[in-house]
Amino acid sequence: MKKILLTCFFIIVSNAWINAQELKSPDGNLVLTFNLNAEGTPVYFLAYKKKEVIKESRLGFILKSDIKMNKGFQIAGTQKQSEDNFWEPVLGEQKKIRNQYNELKADLIQEKSKRKITIYFRLFNDGLGFRYEFPVQDNLRHFVIQEETTEFNLTGDHKIFWIPGDYDTNEYSYTTSKISEMQSLMYNAAHVSMAAQTTIKNLAAQTPLMMKTIDGLYINIHEAALKNYPAMCLNVDDKAYSLSSHLVPDAVGNKGYIQTGSFTPWRTIVVSDDARNILVSKMILNLNEPCAFEDTSWIKPVKYIGVWWEYFTGGGSTWAYSDNQDVVIGATDFSKLKPNGTHGANTKHVKEYIDFASTNGFDAVLVEGWNEGWEDNTAFKKERIYSFTKSYPDFDVKDLSVYAKQKGVKIIMHHETTSSASEYERQLPDALKFMVDNNYNAVKTGYVGPIIPRGEHHDGQQMVNHYTYIAKEAAKHKIMVDSHEAVRPTGLHRTYPNWFAQESARGTEFEAMEGIHPDHTTILPFTRLMGGPMDYTPGIFQGDLSVYGSKKNKLSTTLAKQLALYVTMYSPLQMAADLPENYMRFKDAFQFIKDVALDWDDSYILEAEPGDYITIARKAKGKQEWFVGGITDENPRIALIDFSFLPAGKSFTATIYEDGKTADYKSNPQSYNIRKVNVNSKTKLKQKLVASGGVAISIK
Ligand code: NOJ
Ligand code: CA
Repeated sequence: MKKILLTCFFIIVSNAWINAQELKSPDGNLVLTFNLNAEGTPVYFLAYKKKEVIKESRLGFILKSDIKMNKGFQIAGTQKQSEDNFWEPVLGEQKKIRNQYNELKADLIQEKSKRKITIYFRLFNDGLGFRYEFPVQDNLRHFVIQEETTEFNLTGDHKIFWIPGDYDTNEYSYTTSKISEMQSLMYNAAHVSMAAQTTIKNLAAQTPLMMKTIDGLYINIHEAALKNYPAMCLNVDDKAYSLSSHLVPDAVGNKGYIQTGSFTPWRTIVVSDDARNILVSKMILNLNEPCAFEDTSWIKPVKYIGVWWEYFTGGGSTWAYSDNQDVVIGATDFSKLKPNGTHGANTKHVKEYIDFASTNGFDAVLVEGWNEGWEDNTAFKKERIYSFTKSYPDFDVKDLSVYAKQKGVKIIMHHETTSSASEYERQLPDALKFMVDNNYNAVKTGYVGPIIPRGEHHDGQQMVNHYTYIAKEAAKHKIMVDSHEAVRPTGLHRTYPNWFAQESARGTEFEAMEGIHPDHTTILPFTRLMGGPMDYTPGIFQGDLSVYGSKKNKLSTTLAKQLALYVTMYSPLQMAADLPENYMRFKDAFQFIKDVALDWDDSYILEAEPGDYITIARKAKGKQEWFVGGITDENPRIALIDFSFLPAGKSFTATIYEDGKTADYKSNPQSYNIRKVNVNSKTKLKQKLVASGGVAISIK
């Protein structure tokens, strides 16, 4: 009796509950409930297979100055719609992607101010996406966001794979802990050396954020289609186990300049009780707009080598041409400078790389240090550092362009901007013309150091717009873009497929600097790669850098694991990062890098556990060829490779590149073994991986 009365009372005071809207995923496993609470604040909760995933969580905004767009709302109307169709990415992990969801659209109006906001919820079988629309309306036109107040209230003290919340970098090592342990681990996680770093002062983490509940539910929070808006970090309340949006501010602390008639990015929650499904999920891509270009025939996967690793090994090669301390772009006559004798990007040396690429079937050679300005490489205090159209005197642009063409190889342009974004935009038209005139079809951009205009952040609205602008302008010239140190990707490579890879995480370069943990690459696919392909630059065979003289670094993996990364770290842009001479010492292992495909008809996540291991098989696009990669963290393991992805009734020869019997990532990383076995769709292979080891398999 008491209970019934209470319920009645509740309905009377909060008529909102009458409005509660329920939405189910197409398979019925996920259920979203949307409502207004007693304060008229929009709230949602999410359940998976009848278990709570996200507890009642509030939605909304605070506009400047302190205009509350997070309460006092009424539901003006709701609408449901569904979609189920297939589309084909230009480059991807699979040929066809199914876009199947149920959508709930809720139009809200604030009773007093008459301000309007619309929220869209899309429920897929693999998760929830929701975004806000600011419709055109009488009482609101241009406005500034003080903060977005989206919450993700969790059900407990989950295991979490995190890097510190930061406005400028994603290049941290991951920490695995409980939410309640984050605070005590934050100091060590954040106090590392980075070229640009603005760690959030309160407890916060970056997305994509991967979590696992005590009863084995996997939850991934990120965003999709980040355009004209700052990236979202997540505040962490380690007592209430609650996450909330923390947008990256601009130089004066504002969080977004918005005009009505626009949408925010999607907030995404991928959920499954099977970790493999997190990696299978294409929800973030589905939430992005279709390809913006009519002709995409010029967008191709690229396997490349580069005048690059030699700058990191400690062997003495330099980006800079001279040791002068007084160069000024536009004023200094570089032909009059005394060369330092260690400049890597000289014509003769680049030709050696082109020859190697051509002989070994690579598409391209990246050349860093080709252009004027590297003398000031680390001077983040200077605005105009580089020319993007003038080469150093010993780099013959025309000669190399002709030579590369003869050899059937492309040169990849390099634009390190040292984050002088405004200067880069100023030079861009000339830089693009220069690339077209000299037969370049891809550029690696870089944003090392703090952003100029000063005070802006790598992941703020202005820079988000900058990166997208560069990708779109490059597309007009049929140029593909690989951005380093840019904002983490959010699936925009569906819309702009020429923006085909990014770094935006700790990549192989750190093997030559502060180091990489053995579990790093078992976490990245569950975090950074949820947003898009990574230019991780694997393939280091000579991992003991003491052989070059000045460094003591040792690779964090076995050689076989380096091979496996070409399959486990999806990217249509893959580098063989080591020096050609090292590949010549291990020609039989190098064969796997030469063979491995970059674009796929299908991908099969065979085994996966974040932080522990990943085994993936992929079928090459348009070919009867398959490649398998398996990796493990610091623990040895037996991978169970089920070949049921092969067509039934046929037998194939598989070449297995495995850790050698005496392999040890610390003391004997170069020990590997190559064997051939016959496999068919019924084969189940038990494959031994040593600590931080791996296995790579090619099937033809
Ligand atoms: C950082 C990039 O990640 C690296 O690949 C590049 O070589 C340097 N910046 C210099 O541009
Ligand atoms: Ca970097």
